[in-house]
Amino acid sequence: MIISFSEAKKLLLEGKNIAVPTETVYGLAGIVSIESALERIYSLKNRSKKNPMIIHVANLNQVKSLVKSISDDALMLMKKFWPGPLTLILPAKESVPSVARSDMPTIAIRMPQNDQVLKLIEEVGPIAAPSANLSGKPTATTIEAVEEDFGKNFPILEGSIPEVGLESTIIGQFPEWKLLRFGAIPIEEIEFMLQNKLSFSSEIACPGNFFKHYSPKAKLYRGKNTRDVQAIIGYNERTYDQSLPFFDLGSESNPREIAKNLFRIFRLIDAHNFEKVWIDDELPNQGLYLTIKERISRASEGESS
Ligand code: TXA
Ligand code: MG
Repeated sequence: MIISFSEAKKLLLEGKNIAVPTETVYGLAGIVSIESALERIYSLKNRSKKNPMIIHVANLNQVKSLVKSISDDALMLMKKFWPGPLTLILPAKESVPSVARSDMPTIAIRMPQNDQVLKLIEEVGPIAAPSANLSGKPTATTIEAVEEDFGKNFPILEGSIPEVGLESTIIGQFPEWKLLRFGAIPIEEIEFMLQNKLSFSSEIACPGNFFKHYSPKAKLYRGKNTRDVQAIIGYNERTYDQSLPFFDLGSESNPREIAKNLFRIFRLIDAHNFEKVWIDDELPNQGLYLTIKERISRASEGESS
């Protein structure tokens, strides 16, 4: 159910949860300083409490109210990429409720690029917002997806809908900069700013990597073995087995289009109740394609729990 800005503000200040569109995907929001609102995010999503959330801010003063320090590099990256889909891991002040960070000494923080949401955060303070989907299901990138998971009456803030379709890129300084999650900002752009290569961290640093993610119910197959699949997900200029239903991710030469379609199509194949689906992941190893391939690979590891 779409709600107005003033309704959204009222609900959040009452300690309730609402869904908000960000430029990446929908978030399930609660005010950081209201612990019951944060607890409810975990129960609504059926999310493990060991998996901390991203905190969304509207200005640098809000960042300073949450973190112990900001390195020169971190400040430079904020200036370059915020508002936008870059999440930074920074040392948390003890005053940040432990439920917001799963008792970790750090927090994940970003400034989303959506005017309505920024205004809301400016007025109510920082909000925690993991993606607005049930844990284990494909990320919610449309109003229909949020309603599918939380019901038609669940409040969703009005305004522009996500345009990227994939989550933010997460990086942290340990003390070298490491990539914790491939995301909407291509790593090459961050490497260019840092003038250094970004290596993908071991799984320890980002709890979300332990959990099954992004998968449709159908078992997804990749590569040469098409087994006895019932449908194909691919690109519009390529030719596949014509006898099977085809789901079009867009043009192979347009990664932004593919990114925007990916989770929507995962949910669409679930609506058809397919059990086995083949997905074409033969894409270049660069830029946003790397994030798309990582999401496909995580979704293909088996059935969703
Ligand atoms: O684009 C996005 O990032 C979206 C929108 C709503 O902003 N949010 C999102 O949140 O993707 P979520 O909860 O689905 O993913 C948050 C990820 C998880 O993998 C979590 O483990 C990681 O961030 N994370 C959170 N706090 C962390 C910390 N202190 N250290 C390392 N990883 C952390
Ligand atoms: Mg998520």
